[in-house]
Amino acid sequence: MEIMIGFIGLGLMGRPMALNLLKRGFKLAVFNRSRGPVDELVGFGAVGCSSASEVAELSETIIMMLPDEPEVRQVLTGENGVLKTMRKGGIVIDMSTVSPMFSREMAALVRERGGEMLDAPVSGSTMAAEQGSLTIMVGGRYETYEKVKPVLEAMGKNIYYMGESGSGSLTKLCNQVAVAVNLLGACETLIVASKAGLDLNKVIEVISSGAGGSWQLTNLGPRMVVKDFRPGFKVKHLRKDLRMVRETAERLGLCLPAVGLVSEFVKALDQLGHGEDGTQALITLLENLSNTRVG
Ligand SMILES: NC(=O)c1ccc[n+]([C@@H]2O[C@H](COP(=O)([O-])OP(=O)(O)OC[C@H]3O[C@@H](n4cnc5c(N)ncnc54)[C@H](OP(=O)(O)O)[C@@H]3O)[C@@H](O)[C@H]2O)c1
Repeated sequence: MEIMIGFIGLGLMGRPMALNLLKRGFKLAVFNRSRGPVDELVGFGAVGCSSASEVAELSETIIMMLPDEPEVRQVLTGENGVLKTMRKGGIVIDMSTVSPMFSREMAALVRERGGEMLDAPVSGSTMAAEQGSLTIMVGGRYETYEKVKPVLEAMGKNIYYMGESGSGSLTKLCNQVAVAVNLLGACETLIVASKAGLDLNKVIEVISSGAGGSWQLTNLGPRMVVKDFRPGFKVKHLRKDLRMVRETAERLGLCLPAVGLVSEFVKALDQLGHGEDGTQALITLLENLSNTRVG
């Protein structure tokens, strides 16, 4: 495969996603704010770039996996941004979690420059990113989606076209509602089981095999038990996602009490210094509220 794919943002998710593209034989041009991950990917055969515009110059399709909207805006429209050098007919795929309104605004800017843009956020955490088994939800023109499907298939197993621009981001926000509520459910489950003196890993196994199971409990529960807070999905990113969920709910005139509750917990967790920890660190707040320790 000779097509040059650009990849910008080589963090917890972007790095393994880019590695999977290389493994599938795609030629890759990469850029990241700090240089370390660029040099590492160059060691695996990627072309290292020193700006987003250099990536866009070399690539037909440009993938972004960035923390939040300000970074995406800067990488696209900034002084050394993608739009400075993007080829006519170029395709930008934003896989970061951003709001649907923002996705539509960025897509319009790309279209003005003669390109196409898809919002294609992901679910599945770093494990799925490493295994190439992410769930990917795509918004934008169907023909554009069809064109880049082989690229998405190198990173994900379950790939869904959701509709017009912004639909992928909207679906991701729905996903984050379920993530947030299930995360709190997992924490409260473990608080009860621990205080009751049950074998916590056995409780996780039992519940995971029945109707009360969730990805959060199965995958993050064991880490809560041993207090392993290394990040898969950072607290500061869940805080950002829940802000977007609440803004969207406000616009739709919806009342989401459970999301409101988890948002406040996650905000507190971030302010207490856990922003760079994984979201399983939420268990520490619940422990404090009940004055008990899990595990
Ligand atoms: N982690 C998960 O489980 C997960 C799952 C689904 C979706 N997401 C979403 O995916 C996105 C990325 O998450 P992540 O966990 O990979 O975040 P991350 O580990 O913080 O990685 C973000 C990367 O973007 C780079 N970056 C930031 N600003 C940049 C800029 N202006 N130009 C170039 N590179 C820049 C950072 O570089 P530095 O090295 O300088 O920091 C870092 O390598 C977020 O929107 C998140 O909500 C994450």
